[in-house]
Amino acid sequence: DIKRITAPDIRARKGGEPIVSLTAYHTHTARLADRHCDFLLVGDSLGMVMHGMQSTVPVTLDMMILQGRAVMRGSQRALVVVDMPFGSYEGSKEVAFDNAVRIMKETECGAIKLEGGRRMAETIAFLSERGIPVIAHVGLTPQAINTLGSFKAQGRSETEWDIIENDAKATAEAGAFAVVLEAVAEPLAVRITQNVAIPTIGIGASSACDGQILVLEDMLGLSDRVPKFVKKFAEIGPSIDAAVEAYAKEVRARSFPATEHTYAMRKKS
Ligand code: KIV
Ligand code: NA
Repeated sequence: DIKRITAPDIRARKGGEPIVSLTAYHTHTARLADRHCDFLLVGDSLGMVMHGMQSTVPVTLDMMILQGRAVMRGSQRALVVVDMPFGSYEGSKEVAFDNAVRIMKETECGAIKLEGGRRMAETIAFLSERGIPVIAHVGLTPQAINTLGSFKAQGRSETEWDIIENDAKATAEAGAFAVVLEAVAEPLAVRITQNVAIPTIGIGASSACDGQILVLEDMLGLSDRVPKFVKKFAEIGPSIDAAVEAYAKEVRARSFPATEHTYAMRKKS
């Protein structure tokens, strides 16, 4: 049995070798990403990526738990972190605790993630003091799309800097073991990484962060539209298209299945 990376292991990597992370929603992708990542995030982005939703707002706790279980089955080494979906933690720290406990009991994951800085500090403290490791998420917080109006980069004017930096600091002081910085202007990401005691995990926040995360399907070139901060490390869409096209052609030509894919009768003894 391989020992899993823990939340304290990730916390201890502040200022050290960069922390590598990707999202995973399924057993098969978890198995592949587990070989190279320090933690896997079962992100609520699955609502958009797997289900074609317009935002992460409709994602439910049951959806997160189902995919969290799939990712735990596919991985052995990486810490698995499950996103708390919109509506499952904002109401009160007690509601957040009950729902985080459900996630941890039903998936056996090692940590949860939630969006918000100062406004979530009390909840982060309540959870982390009660055995639930928390990653915070500040900068662009996609669950707030309906109050933000659009997905846009944060901290591009210095007047926003203190708000975002204080959000990140508050999560660290409350006991979060890492903080995701999403779509944050590079100089602000540098400053937060220098001034906050816990690892910063960047997504669209520059290489200054203590670690990086991307949505797996985005970096594989499987998503239709991706933000500027996504680098496509592969373009697997065209390979899938070519494979499906070849399959369809062979089925129509009756050249697939061939004899080697076919069962013959048992020989009579
Ligand atoms: O849901 C998600 O994929 C995330 C990211 C940080 C990538 O929250
Ligand atoms: Na998310």
